[in-house]
Amino acid sequence: MTILVTGGAGFIGSNFVLDWLAGCDEAVVNLDALTYAGNLRNLASLQGDARHRFVQGHIGDRALVDSLLARHQPRAIVHFAAESHVDRSIHGPGEFMKTNVEGSFTLLEAARAHWGSLDDAAKAAFRFHHVSTDEVYGSLAADAPAFTETHPYHPNSPYSASKAASDHLVRAWHHTYGLPVLTTHCSNNYGPFHFPEKLIPLIIVNALAGKPLPLYGDGLQVRDWLFVADHCSAIREVLARGRVGETYNVGGWNEKTNKEIVHAVCALLDELRPSAAGPYARLITHVKDRPGHDRRYAIDARKIEGELGWRPAETFDTGIRKTVQWYLEHADWVADVQSGGYREWVNRQYGA
Ligand code: NAD
Ligand code: TYD
Repeated sequence: MTILVTGGAGFIGSNFVLDWLAGCDEAVVNLDALTYAGNLRNLASLQGDARHRFVQGHIGDRALVDSLLARHQPRAIVHFAAESHVDRSIHGPGEFMKTNVEGSFTLLEAARAHWGSLDDAAKAAFRFHHVSTDEVYGSLAADAPAFTETHPYHPNSPYSASKAASDHLVRAWHHTYGLPVLTTHCSNNYGPFHFPEKLIPLIIVNALAGKPLPLYGDGLQVRDWLFVADHCSAIREVLARGRVGETYNVGGWNEKTNKEIVHAVCALLDELRPSAAGPYARLITHVKDRPGHDRRYAIDARKIEGELGWRPAETFDTGIRKTVQWYLEHADWVADVQSGGYREWVNRQYGA
């Protein structure tokens, strides 16, 4: 048996592939375009492992996807591949439309053709698992209840609009063609292999380099944080036992302001790698806010908990400690991803 994973060299995808192969022997075909966010170093521990086959390519390459489906006959597709950074989507939305919308469309069409060619038993067992985000629901007021699966869509950024569009395609391919789909909406992830353009790894990496720790606006925006391994276990549960055509919200009941997050990271660094120059929080710098910045996200995870018995294994305290420790132990990984392209991005976003 085999599954096809798209975007399996990125942050969550590589964590998923590593967790999957640590837990079972079912082979993984990993299709990833290796954009700036994809990194084969994340998968170095799988070198020589016959259960993992990496293919560099675009999900929008129909001929390639068709050939992978025909050759490997996967029983499921787990679709992570996406452009994923809100700030980049504000600077250049085009790539987000190409991959997240058109690429997902092509993948769905290839999946539909493949699924249509299967015998009845294989058809019934096949799954297309779409990995989506809570950002499609838009921003919550401070006192509003958390997002349930029936919350209306109100995407506010080019990124979330492109993910919302792909969600609608996935839904339509189920209702119109019967493709057996599953969709998960997860809150903000953190953990190993997180590219240091996103808040938590950026703060760790900048603090260690003695650079400013940029907080957008007043820093009181709220996100609901989940350790990446818990997102991976939720996807495995939904893939195994989720009801076809359903959507499941995934989160850890861990709402925190950005200010709290940055202070928590600084406090851990003060403990684990104290700086002679003083507490890391001295580096916190308020910078211009993100345009259209969503104020609050929060996930109501009762459906996945009640139906599938899924629960996160980590609290925020245990997960963030593991994360900071991982970055301290993997300075080589950090140095490797801080290429010229990364420096260009940092200069463009935060100024020289
Ligand atoms: P990421 O940016 O770290 O990784 C994306 C991966 O997709 C990279 O390896 C990249 O090379 C690959 N990719 C990009 N375009 C591609 C294309 N056209 N064809 C093939 N591969 C391509 O993203 P991530 O944070 O790991 O997110 C993975 C998925 O999870 C995304 O769909 C994202 O929307 C969703 N998600 C992320 C979060 C989060 O907090 N990071 C939360 C909820 C949902
Ligand atoms: P990010 O990690 O980009 O994830 P998302 O926008 O998908 O939630 O940002 C998390 C929060 O942190 C978001 O409210 C924006 C904020 N943020 C900063 O304050 N400073 C930064 O340098 C970055 C990258 C994000």
